[in-house]
Amino acid sequence: MTDRYAVFGNPIAHSKSPRIHAAFAAQTGQNLTYETRLAPLDGFAEAVRAFREAGGRGANVTVPFKEQAYAMADRLSERAQSAGAVNTLTFDATGVHGDNTDGVGLVNDLAGNLGLELAGKRILLMGAGGAARGVVLPLLEKAPSELFIVNRTAAKARELVAPAPRRRGAGATLAAGGYADISGQFDLVINATAASLAGDLPPLPAGLFAEGALAYDMMYGRDTPFLAFARGEGARCADGLGMLVEQAAAAFFLWRGVQPATAPVIAMLRGYP
Ligand code: ATR
Repeated sequence: MTDRYAVFGNPIAHSKSPRIHAAFAAQTGQNLTYETRLAPLDGFAEAVRAFREAGGRGANVTVPFKEQAYAMADRLSERAQSAGAVNTLTFDATGVHGDNTDGVGLVNDLAGNLGLELAGKRILLMGAGGAARGVVLPLLEKAPSELFIVNRTAAKARELVAPAPRRRGAGATLAAGGYADISGQFDLVINATAASLAGDLPPLPAGLFAEGALAYDMMYGRDTPFLAFARGEGARCADGLGMLVEQAAAAFFLWRGVQPATAPVIAMLRGYP
């Protein structure tokens, strides 16, 4: 029996997830199919239920349904609770389990593929929407010296840190504010805003990057104003393609109990966009 998985979104046609999971399955000898499912904007939960009733074993969830996936899950992992969003659903006899692998995907890309040690580092996280919320706890677990969350609407960033998410990174300072509150230099600056989509650059001060700092844009597939700015400031740059593949690998592991190799899949996607 071939096990069935799918990714639900709207739009969804250009999702790379089917190629990523097909590559993982081939590599690990897992017998599964993975398809895209366009869910109607007002019919996400029904679409997922229909897929489950038709024999689906699990699903990924992308924009704009991650909060609805959170709401429909019977059980939530701690990281899904912290994110307030679900990107991975697993179906079994006991119900629908919701998890979130976006944060661990980012952290694994940073630590594994990009060779960045996060412990003791100063991290600036831009944005306070779903994308930012999903990575706060996994970043804190890596024990940076500081995580500063900055947002155009400063109050939204402050809401994110108060009450502070449960902290694993002993001693990490968690703070938040607006762009005018940014001070000092950072070893890692992550763009989790939607600014890149609009071709905008958040109002970052010059001299923000420490020696050898990494600028990370969660967006992928094109150069962004943030990465262009960071390059001009002498920072090393990375897009979000590695995070995409790593979140998929973490979902694949949840479903199949097998850890796929991500580097060849990232290379494949970079070679054939
Ligand atoms: P997502 O789920 O992708 O995070 P979201 O919840 O709509 O999407 O959040 C979008 C984030 O991008 C917010 O932090 C938003 O800032 P505001 O809270 O102030 O709206 C940020 N954002 C969007 N456009 C931006 C821009 N042009 N400059 C800076 N930040 C921007």
